[in-house]
Amino acid sequence: MKGNMSSHDLGAADAIVKKYDNPRETLIAVLQDLQEEYGYLPREVLERVSESTGIALSHLTGVASFYAQFRLNPPGKYKIMVCLGTACHVNGGERVADTVARHLGIAEGETTQDGLFSFETVACLGCCSLSPVMMINGQVYGKLNADKVKKILDDIRGSENA
Ligand code: FES
Repeated sequence: MKGNMSSHDLGAADAIVKKYDNPRETLIAVLQDLQEEYGYLPREVLERVSESTGIALSHLTGVASFYAQFRLNPPGKYKIMVCLGTACHVNGGERVADTVARHLGIAEGETTQDGLFSFETVACLGCCSLSPVMMINGQVYGKLNADKVKKILDDIRGSENA
């Protein structure tokens, strides 16, 4: 992903909006469809939807920001999902999430400036016996502590810079 400058096919956004008789009343569903199409909610797509529906852009971004399911930034090359399900929560999931955020300098839902990492939290990745757990692009890392988390992230960054 090359940051926010990439241009998107806005025809797909138009087609999605047209499926709905009253997009204002079904805004969540519209945004879900848009996110499925684009992988996140690019600003230019929301601008287009604002133009075509008359819904204020500030309202669209406000709703999108309010619900954790929506992303306003492109996901990173490495998508980190930190588990905060019950088992992971009990065994230090918050510490894992905190370490990821601090080490990368991003909050949940954000993407690093270089586009390498994005980070979100999820409820149960289905491997509770390994808690606390995080998944990066489908690979599970378990029995984590702060040092392990930092090393995993550093190793990935190192492999990218090699
Ligand atoms: S609670 Fe984290 S994997 Fe199940």
